[in-house]
Amino acid sequence: MTYEKPKTLILLDHPDISQSRVNRALAAALEGAPDLAVRDLRRLYPDGRIDVAAERAAVEAVENIVLQYPTHWYAPPAFLKTWLDEVLIRGWAYGTGGPGALAGKTLRVATSTGGTTEAYSPSGFHGWDYSDILIPLQATARRLGMQWLSPFILHGVRDLTDEQLHGQAQDYRTMLVSGSVPDPVS
Ligand SMILES: Cc1cc2nc3c(=O)[nH]c(=O)nc-3n(C[C@H](O)[C@H](O)[C@H](O)COP(=O)(O)O)c2cc1C
Repeated sequence: MTYEKPKTLILLDHPDISQSRVNRALAAALEGAPDLAVRDLRRLYPDGRIDVAAERAAVEAVENIVLQYPTHWYAPPAFLKTWLDEVLIRGWAYGTGGPGALAGKTLRVATSTGGTTEAYSPSGFHGWDYSDILIPLQATARRLGMQWLSPFILHGVRDLTDEQLHGQAQDYRTMLVSGSVPDPVS
């Protein structure tokens, strides 16, 4: 079955993708993948002024939305937060008197961290499980009636060899391409 529009949209935010090692490799691995499209938000909006109507149309057209970013201070970089603040407004995303525009779609986070897997635990260096760090986005998905899927998290990226990064990027592509079978997280 072919789709005229991509089924999955990756909203990519990186403050300087030209200096990125990890997120650039992840995005590059998606090139040419069927039914996937990447929106590099800072390339689309170098002046920071988001075309809200265009963004709404882009996310309305797909079934699955992925937020891809490097973790900066336990959160997405600021422009992705601005995107959420400006695009997800009352009367469209919620508060419509019925399902919002994104209800029924899936939401997945794909992110990278300097902190290692072991460091993200209550007794670890960062003091929290990474799933706790994602609660605001998980709550957003819930509020919008979206299905929250297992995040794709690359921890400890400073220790990743180029070969390991390449392998992870291929796994990312495979996961998103075969993402028609959702893996909801309770
Ligand atoms: C401003 C800034 C804040 C960061 N905050 C965190 C953090 O809170 N937790 C963490 O594990 N890593 C943190 N890091 C490390 C980044 O997550 C890491 O450099 C990034 O995932 C690498 O991806 P990239 O090669 O695409 O830039 C931070 C890095 C920067 C520059």
